[in-house]
Amino acid sequence: MLTRIFSILIIGISSTLAGLAFAQTQAPAPASAAPAFAAPNLSPSGVRSLAANCAACHGTNGNSAGGAVAGLAGLDKDYFVNQMKLFKEGKREATLMHQIAKGYSDTEISALAGYFSTQKK
Ligand code: HEC
Repeated sequence: MLTRIFSILIIGISSTLAGLAFAQTQAPAPASAAPAFAAPNLSPSGVRSLAANCAACHGTNGNSAGGAVAGLAGLDKDYFVNQMKLFKEGKREATLMHQIAKGYSDTEISALAGYFSTQKK
């Protein structure tokens, strides 16, 4: 009787160990392929957040303090889009904007152009 209980115990323990070993040799689940970049949020609040990236230099809502850096409020949309394109392509001389402009897609730039064009100077 005792040997029987003992062998049941042994079988139980060894199958548990085998189960653990098996679990450990399983390859980890592949990480889900996240997109390299999230789709841009072009809702009104999304565009405001994008525009906030420009505020440090161009001021809140595109009104730069003191005018050391050009204000963006009220700029014509086409002019805005064109300047960003020139910066991106290195065709307009710039200290900073040639780098910054590269961080924004054409879609984001046109959304920003729309936003700033409607801001009051
Ligand atoms: C770190 C400071 C800084 C930030 C942040 C910044 N800019 Fe600029 N921006 C400048 C400077 C300086 C110029 C003048 C050109 C140059 O030297 O790069 C300029 C010029 C511009 C111009 C041309 C204005 C004109 O009247 O011709 C546009 C358009 C512009 N920036 C858009 C943006 C947008 C959109 C953002 C945010 C996504 C942004 N900038 C963020 C510093 C900045």
